Amino acid sequence: MKRNFKVFLVLGTRPEAIKLAPVILELRKRCEFDCRVCVTAQHREMLDQVLQVFDIVPDLDLNLMRPDQTLSGLTSRAIETLDGVFAVEKPDLVLVQGDTATCFSAALTSFYHHIAVGHVEAGLRTGNLYSPWPEEANRVLTSRLATLHFAPTEVNSQNLLREGIEPAKIFVTGNTVIDALFIALEKIKSSPPDIPGLPAGITASWNGVRMVLITGHRRENFGQGFESICQSIAELANRFADVQFVYPVHLNPNVREPVMKILGSGGKGNIHLIDPLPYFPFIAMMHRSTLILTDSGGIQEEAPSLGKPVLVMRDTTERPEAVSAGTARLVGTDFRRIVMETSRLLTDKDSYDCMAGKTNPYGDGQTANRIVRICGEFLQTEKYSG
Ligand code: UD1
Ligand code: UDP
Repeated sequence: MKRNFKVFLVLGTRPEAIKLAPVILELRKRCEFDCRVCVTAQHREMLDQVLQVFDIVPDLDLNLMRPDQTLSGLTSRAIETLDGVFAVEKPDLVLVQGDTATCFSAALTSFYHHIAVGHVEAGLRTGNLYSPWPEEANRVLTSRLATLHFAPTEVNSQNLLREGIEPAKIFVTGNTVIDALFIALEKIKSSPPDIPGLPAGITASWNGVRMVLITGHRRENFGQGFESICQSIAELANRFADVQFVYPVHLNPNVREPVMKILGSGGKGNIHLIDPLPYFPFIAMMHRSTLILTDSGGIQEEAPSLGKPVLVMRDTTERPEAVSAGTARLVGTDFRRIVMETSRLLTDKDSYDCMAGKTNPYGDGQTANRIVRICGEFLQTEKYSG
C-alpha cells in the first residue's frame, strides 16, 4: 500500500532557511511526501528574506521572535508551541538543521512525541561547549536525540562515531549550503541583483576596486570581542583608503550597537554599513569581494567554492575543512591579529594567491537529493517493517 509520508521541516533563522530550502524544493518534487514547512520565526525579517527568494510559503508560522530575546525565553516558547503543533499534526518525520535554539527545541519536542528526527548538518564539533555558544551544545544535544544524521563531511561522521552514534544511522551527504549556493549563482548569472542599501550602480563604479565583505553575530563575541572587531575595521579602512569595506549588519541589537557606535561615521567614505542582504544579493557581493572577514558558519562553507579567502574572527571552528584546504584562517577577535592578517592579504599577492584557490570540501550541489532519498528509504522501512 502506498501512502504519503508527512515530513515536517522546522526552521527559524536565516541559515536554517538557506540550508533547508534545497531539501524543501526536493521533497516537493516527490509525490510520496507530504512536506510541511513549520517556521518558528526565531528570526523574522532575516528568515522572511530567504523564504521569499526561494518562493517558500510556510504551512505554519509560529512567529516567536521577540526583540533582544533570551535563549531560555525563546527555547521555552518554541518547545511549548511545537508541543501543540506535533500533537495535532503527528508528523512521520521531523527534519531540523544545524545548531540553533529552533533546531534543538524541535528535536527535543519530537523526542517527547516519539517522532523520528533527521538532523541535517550533523556532527560539526569544536569540542568546546562554550565556543560557539550556545551552538556547540545545541549540536551535541540534537545528535543525542536524532535518528538520522546527515553529516556534511567524513570529519563530521567521525565526530559522531566517536560519540557512540550507530554507524548505520550516519550518512555522509555533503552540505545543502552548496546546493543553495549553486541555485543562487545560477540566478545571479541570469539577472545580476541590485544591492539594497548601496546607491544604485555603485558596485559597477567599483570596477577594479578591491572590496572587503564583513559579517559578524556570534554571542561569544558580544562586548569586548565586537568592539575589537569594529576597531580593526576602522583601522583597516583608514590604512586602505582605496579599498571598500561593506558590512551588512546583523539585526541583533547586541551587534548593531557597537557597530553603529564605532563604524557609523563611515571612515573615509569607504565603510558601508547596510542592513542584512537578501541571499542572492549577498552571494553576488561574496562573488564580487576580494576577501571576507566573518564569524559566520555558513560563509566559511560558501567562500571556498567561490575562491575567496576568509579570515574567521573566532578562536575555534567546527569547519576545519576550509582551514585545511588553505582558504580559511582563524584570526580570533584580537585587534592586532585582524589588522595584520587582513593587511597581509591586501598587500602581499603571494599570500593572497595561496588562499584564493577554489576548493569544494562541503559538497557537490546534490546533497538535498541524497537526504530526501535516505528519508524515503527510512520511512518505507520504518512504517512497513513487520
Ligand atoms: C541565531 C542563532 C545562531 C545563528 C544565527 C544566524 C541561536 C541561539 N542562535 O543567532 O546559532 O548562527 O541566528 O544569524 O539559535 N533580530 C531581528 N530580526 C531578525 C533576526 C534577529 O530583529 O530577523 C534580532 C531580535 O532582536 C532578536 C535578536 O536579533 O531577539 C537575536 O536573535 P536570535 O535568533 O535569538 O539570535 P542570533 O544572534 O540571531
Ligand atoms: N547571508 C545573507 N545575507 C547577509 C549575510 C549572510 O544571505 O547579509 C547568508 C550567507 O550567505 C550564509 C548565511 O547567511 O549562507 C549565514 O548566516 P549567518 O552568518 O547569519 O549564520 P551562521 O551560518 O553563522 O549560523
